[in-house]
Amino acid sequence: MRISIIGTGYVGTVTGTCFAHLGNEVICVDVDPSRVERMNAGIPPIYEEGLEQLLREHAGKNLKATLDYDTAIANTDISFICVPTPSDENGKIDLRFIREASRSIGRRLKDKKSYHVVVVKSTVVPGTTEQIVTPVLEEESGKKAGKDFGVGMNPEFLREGKAVHDFQHPDRIVVGADDPKAAGIIKSLYAGYSCPILEADTKTAEMIKYVSNAFLATKISFSNEVGNICKRLGIDTYKVMEGVGLDARISPHFLRSGLGFGGSCFPKDVKALVGKASEVDYEPVLLKTVLAVNDKQPEIALRILKKHIPDLRGARVAVLGLAFKDDTDDIRESRAIPLIGMLLAEGATVTAYDPMAAEFMKKVYPAIGYAKTAGDALDGADACMIATEWGEFARLNGEFARMKRRIVIDGRRMVDPRGKDIVYEGLCW
Ligand code: UGA
Repeated sequence: MRISIIGTGYVGTVTGTCFAHLGNEVICVDVDPSRVERMNAGIPPIYEEGLEQLLREHAGKNLKATLDYDTAIANTDISFICVPTPSDENGKIDLRFIREASRSIGRRLKDKKSYHVVVVKSTVVPGTTEQIVTPVLEEESGKKAGKDFGVGMNPEFLREGKAVHDFQHPDRIVVGADDPKAAGIIKSLYAGYSCPILEADTKTAEMIKYVSNAFLATKISFSNEVGNICKRLGIDTYKVMEGVGLDARISPHFLRSGLGFGGSCFPKDVKALVGKASEVDYEPVLLKTVLAVNDKQPEIALRILKKHIPDLRGARVAVLGLAFKDDTDDIRESRAIPLIGMLLAEGATVTAYDPMAAEFMKKVYPAIGYAKTAGDALDGADACMIATEWGEFARLNGEFARMKRRIVIDGRRMVDPRGKDIVYEGLCW
């Protein structure tokens, strides 16, 4: 099929490239000339495992990028809207880019003779496709949705860093559409997939995406709460969750306690769902608590550190890990941000290390120290705090000998203290 992708962020680039790899003709549209240039040269605008190889294989062949909506809409049969949906200062979803993309597509649909399907892939609050995208498309094109063109909602379930893998090996595909013709066309794109394909109306599809993320975030906050209790009881919460996760109804995933969840999705999506619930006059007690537990974890880490060093003024603290999780350079909502903020407020001197994300953290904290290796960050430190689950932290050993005081507060269960000459405390264990 001939597909256009609106927006070349991580969802758009991965979706476009993977659709091209499935044999489709893909045109990606972006407003940023440098992104378009990079895509056409086969250079991914973002880091994603396995993406560069696929992009190089298809760029300039059945995958092209352009600044020009006219070409993209005129020469394709289906468009995926993959633009960002950030939160505003109150946590409410900002749909500006969704509106702009819908307007731009709608204008081009006006003169288009053949049937075209517009699919929202961005994460949007329930009702957005029906109440914003469809009316804007109809207004700009002067045509009728469900008759002259189709509208759908096809959420993504791609983890950052593993997005290509997740696109190619999904647990399920959700096809939201308010008319059967559009649903059939979207479904046909996934004809080769063996996973379940669930059909729903667009607002149900939108809700499935939010609820999936909110549920995973809830599992993490639940594990953190249990972990905070277990630590006080002298029980190893990781053993507890291993036993709990063996129940097939619960599953072993997303039960790792520690500093909590960050990233561009969980915090934003849970907040947006809280906001939507309030709009319809419902007090989402559980979801608010999921956020509150998450916000508390860095504070608890600091409290544990202060048990060992009550006055942090002048103390040197090495913070290992800045990205919101391993295998990414993304620091959005990283738990390291509030952690470093609190350490600085207490008067500590911070030296940070991250294998990928340091350059981005320099924009948030230009005045702290940045080390080239974990060992260098630990050099002369009074304490070490582990904030990200990078595999290399599990291999640290002799490096701890470089510390002045060997106090290690582990926020991600990375270090096995056995046989190591360190004072070790886990956040929840
Ligand atoms: C998440 C979802 O996992 C994807 O399915 C979804 O498509 C994506 O959001 C999205 O909405 O686009 P992502 O934000 O890339 O993906 O990251 P995750 O791997 O889910 O991790 C999120 C955060 O939770 C990280 O900070 C991680 O450290 C933390 N986490 C994860 C825990 O604290 N404990 C766990 O057991 C698992």
